[in-house]
Amino acid sequence: MEDFSSSNLMDKIVSLCRRRGFIYPSSEIYGGLANTWDFGPLGVELKNNIKKAWWKKMVYEKDNIVGLDSNIIINPQVWEASGHVSGFSDPLIECKSCHTRFRADDLLEGKYGEVITKDGHSQCPLCGGELTESKKFNLMFKTFLGPVEDAAHLVYLRPETAQGIFINFKQVLTSSRQKIPFGIAQIGKSFRNEITPGNFIFRTREFEQMELEYFVKPSESEKWHHFWQEERLNWYLDLGIKKQNLRFRPHQKEELAHYALSCVDVEYLFSFKSGEQWGELEGIANRGDYDLKTHSQHSGKDLSYFDEETNQNYLPFVIEPSAGVERSFLAFLMDAYDEDEQDGEVRTVLRLSPALAPVKVAVLPLVKNNPALVALAQQVLLDLKTKSQFLVVYDEVGSIGRRYRRQDEIGTPWCVTIDHQSLEDETVTVRDRDSLKQERVKIKDLYFKI
Ligand code: GLY
Repeated sequence: MEDFSSSNLMDKIVSLCRRRGFIYPSSEIYGGLANTWDFGPLGVELKNNIKKAWWKKMVYEKDNIVGLDSNIIINPQVWEASGHVSGFSDPLIECKSCHTRFRADDLLEGKYGEVITKDGHSQCPLCGGELTESKKFNLMFKTFLGPVEDAAHLVYLRPETAQGIFINFKQVLTSSRQKIPFGIAQIGKSFRNEITPGNFIFRTREFEQMELEYFVKPSESEKWHHFWQEERLNWYLDLGIKKQNLRFRPHQKEELAHYALSCVDVEYLFSFKSGEQWGELEGIANRGDYDLKTHSQHSGKDLSYFDEETNQNYLPFVIEPSAGVERSFLAFLMDAYDEDEQDGEVRTVLRLSPALAPVKVAVLPLVKNNPALVALAQQVLLDLKTKSQFLVVYDEVGSIGRRYRRQDEIGTPWCVTIDHQSLEDETVTVRDRDSLKQERVKIKDLYFKI
């Protein structure tokens, strides 16, 4: 792996994403919309594969975790009860002259350099104007349900998928006959009106979460908190992220979310334009019985669990691994990006895990002007397309070398080439993206090979 400077790597990733159709700036034909991005044909594949890999690990490979897909807009009383209406806010400071808004903690931590003070007043780091006092800014997006825009119809776009799980806790428990410990997993969009989004897709106002709420006996919450930290770290490692680029970071008391007893982040060493920086991939929180208790109180419905062994009711504690899809997308891309030299040329290659790569296999006829060879390639393509759960593509344009490079650049792990020998003995070559080795394989064994 080459040693890329940090800003350089971010530029390369952004440029690759746009050029090859992973990510485009949103609404571009109308001049764009700040910090919004659309996922193109390859981006949606990578995103879906990340979500599939999470769901497989968290739901399909476990006996005691079930899935859920709850509504984005839910009764606003949920957000009163959860504490988001009163407590889900960031400290905001505004410049009275240029009206730029800053997070107060960013100013205090020196993110914008030293904030100059004159006559006891803080001055804007951008224009030197006077800054307001810090005030609380609630991060929830508001809208109205139905045609009447008044307080009685005010609703919120969810800022976390978690609450959809808590309000369905009793229904899931009853209908799926689970016993504690058990979990409910959900993937979906959430919305936060961040004061300072940025760093490409790292912090956006609309984003996707992969959340598990794991309900446990209160006395066992520490044990499970630890279990999920290891489990989640291993998920990133198993999907190819380098160990040295991952770490745990326990939250300090003063930074804990209003619902958390404790929290440990899994962080990745991102290459932002400003330099290398550890950033959160996911938070693994011990939410205690905060949510079930507050929803029991506010709704008047008993959300306790009846333990048949001890004949007692109790409110379970909740361990919550909560991951951001776009953040892992960026981390997987950054970690996979590589350049090496092939035949005197620089080759860009994404060393993505085959489970994540947007295109699993490319089928390439060696030449395009031999009808028998093209027909066989089409047959191989159709067969793989029908059997595979992943995207398989066909490419006959340009030299075979150029076609391999095109696939390397988007991380395709295998290229299947149909050549003249294929017509004689029903074999094809399978080229491995990383070793560059080509192996001859019987067409009938192809599906099992890849
Ligand atoms: N549910 C935790 C979070 O959204 O951060």
